[in-house]
Parts: sequence; C-alpha cells; structure tokens
Amino acid sequence: MDSNPVIDMLGRRLRLAVVGGGPGSFIGAMHRTAARLDDRYELVAGVLSSDGDRSRAAAAAIGIAANRAFADADELFVAEAARPDGADVVAIMTPNDSHHAYALAALRHGFDVICDKPITNTLTEAREVLAAVEETGLVFCLTHNYTGYPMVRQARAMVADGQLGELQLVQVEYVQGGKAGERDPDPVGELPWRYDPVRGGPSLVLGDIGTHAHNLVRFVTGREVTEIAADVGHIVANRLVDDYAGAMLRFDNGARGSFWVTQAATGVENCLRLRASGTLGTVEWMQELPTQLVFRPSAAPVEIRTPNGPGTLPLAARASRIVAGHPEGFHEGFANVYTDAAEAIAARRSGHEPDPLALHFPNALDGLMGVAFVDAAIRSSADDGAWTSVAGSFNA
Ligand SMILES: NC(=O)c1ccc[n+]([C@@H]2O[C@H](COP(=O)([O-])OP(=O)(O)OC[C@H]3O[C@@H](n4cnc5c(N)ncnc54)[C@H](O)[C@@H]3O)[C@@H](O)[C@H]2O)c1
Repeated sequence: MDSNPVIDMLGRRLRLAVVGGGPGSFIGAMHRTAARLDDRYELVAGVLSSDGDRSRAAAAAIGIAANRAFADADELFVAEAARPDGADVVAIMTPNDSHHAYALAALRHGFDVICDKPITNTLTEAREVLAAVEETGLVFCLTHNYTGYPMVRQARAMVADGQLGELQLVQVEYVQGGKAGERDPDPVGELPWRYDPVRGGPSLVLGDIGTHAHNLVRFVTGREVTEIAADVGHIVANRLVDDYAGAMLRFDNGARGSFWVTQAATGVENCLRLRASGTLGTVEWMQELPTQLVFRPSAAPVEIRTPNGPGTLPLAARASRIVAGHPEGFHEGFANVYTDAAEAIAARRSGHEPDPLALHFPNALDGLMGVAFVDAAIRSSADDGAWTSVAGSFNA
C-alpha cells in the first residue's frame, strides 16, 4: 500500500466522526486503529458515551478537540454538517438498538456511514436503512471485519475464479467460550444492553457472532442461504438469552450447509472456521490461524496459501500489506475494510472511479441479509426446527 488513493482523489484524508466506542468498549479502539492504519482518515469529532460528561472526557483522551466532542449523536450530526471542514464519514459502534436511528440520521445529514453489525435489530429497520442508502447514494460500510482478512479474500477470489467448481457443501462455525461460565446479570438490576432483547436484539448469540458467520459464508461462496432448519437456545442453565444456535442450511444453487455458533464452549477463544467444498476442491480457513488458507484440490496434493505467497490472487494481494511470512491479523483485517470503504467514499465525493477491488466491503444489503437470516433462524427454531425460508423474511 504505497499510494494513498484518498489523498490522490481529495487532496486530504477523510474526516471521520465516531459515535460510540468509549470507555469499556473493545471494538471502539479497533475501529479507530483501523481508520488510522493506512492514513485514509483523520479523526475529527466524536460522541463516545451516552453520558455527556463521560463522552467529552473520553474524546479528550483520544485527542478530539473540545469543540468537536459532543454529548449526543444528533448534536454531532447537526454541528459537523454545518462546518465547512465538517466530518465526511460517521462511524457507528454503539449498542445494537441505536444503529438504525443513528445510521438514518447520519445518512440524512449527508455523511457516508461505517456501521458495526448487526445493521439493526429488526427487518423493518434494516429495510429502512437500505432504502436510505439507495435514496441518498451515500456509501454504507458494515464492519463484518472478517471479510478483510487476506486469506478470506483469497477464498472468495478462488471460488469466483471457479477453482472449487460448483459449490456443494459449506460448514461454518463460530465458537467462543466467553459466556460459558458467566452467571447472567441479575434480572432485577439494570441489564447490560446485550442481555436486553430490546437493546441487544432478538437473539444474543445470533446478533453477536451468528451474523459474522452467516456473512462469512456469503462473502466466500457468493451464494445465498435460502432455507434454514435451526435450533436456537441456551446451554448455560436458566439463562434467559441465547448462547447457542445450530442449523442446517440450503443454498440457492442446491448446496447444503451446517452452521454452529455458541458463546458457551468452555475454554474456546475465538474459533471462527469455514470449510467450503465444490466439485473440484475444498477451501478451509480458521480465524485463529488467519494467514493460512488450506486448498484441497480433487486431483493434486493439498496446498496452503499465504498472504502475498505464491498464487495470491489480486483481491487478496490488495489486502496483504507486507511481505510474505509476516503475520497479519485482526487489526489489519479491520483496517482493510476501512481502507476499501475510504476509497469508495473518496471516489464518490470526488467523482472518480474507485478500483473495483475496493468494492468488496459489506454493505447495507449484506446487513439486511444478516438480519433476515437471524429472523428465519428464530422462526425455524420456534417451529421445532422446521425448514424455513430466509427469503420469506422479506415478505413477512
Ligand atoms: N465487528 C466486531 O467484531 C464487533 C465486536 C464487538 C462488538 N461489535 C459491535 O459493536 C457495537 C458495540 O459493542 P461493544 O462491545 O463495544 O459494546 P460496549 O457496551 O462494550 O461499549 C459500547 C460503547 O458505546 C458507548 N455508547 C453507548 N451508547 C452510546 C450513545 N448513545 N452514544 C455514544 N456512545 C454510546 C458506551 O459508552 C460504550 O463506550 C455493537 O453493535 C456490537 O455488535 C462488533
């Protein structure tokens, strides 16, 4: 990444405002690092907490000027839209229930948007965000950050290149242990937002990690899940939210799949794993060994692809920032999503054409598909695992 297309197109970096990601948030620092890694953005404004004083203190701690540290998001949108040097892009990383309102407001004020997943908690809301993106023509990037890993992009490019043949089988799992031993919060006290279905969404595990797993499958295979037979519930006794979902999947080309996500697998850390098999071969990728993509062709020995190693396809090469053999991971993958979005945003704002390879970041339609998948999984499970149409969610 020697050149900076954003500076080439705009003569400056994009001005970024952040909403959320303040005290206690893991993902806030990831967003801000991702924005800075390739020098495509300059952080100029923010609201980092729902509490005004905490927001201003947190903004000061990360170098945001006092006059651009706001007490709430609406104040930020109005003030930044009015400045000649106001923010270009708003990044939203607040609890799930606020994504809808903040995304709509940001789009209506003319900001391009980067938003964390899930796009919204309901299908109606997701449709509204997609409609607003289409009406405004603004860029909307959804941070399904696992799509930014070079070897995930290599897998996508190999599938698109026909190297797997016709897709037949997909296995995806996202297994964590973070909630295995945890006692749920006292339901009488104030619930953390994730444990409140109004704030966290209808299924904790599906919103937190199920949407990542579903999106990874779609990103790599280019196929849609059309039907699901699901079992969604909890492993930890007496828990009131979902910590487990298992499902069988049917795809739009007749391929079959299995889906397995939990946050209650004792001792497991962050095991997101995908296997996709076609008529000519199989690819396998695991987030905890992210620089290796295993390719099992039908008529040749197994191969391991690595970032910038032999056989790296252009989509993966774009995301492989240093020479082969130097491990890259979560930060760089997240930054690849930000960097691609930056190129699309700068191109839109300057009237240039972006590099087509920059346009593979997840968008509002991907977000809607994720919410539809969650919706169908919950409906299937409530119907004792009956096969349920995902596309049917759109007519519900
Ligand atoms: N992409 C990923 O891998 C990933 C990982 C973790 C979380 N997330 C997503 O990020 C979002 C936040 O999750 P989290 O784990 O950081 O939650 P969190 O509760 O740890 O942190 C939320 C932060 O947002 C701030 N905040 C809350 N309401 C706000 C408001 N109205 N305005 C401004 N700031 C506000 C809080 O002060 C806090 O600092 C969720 O949508 C979650 O799904 C994504």
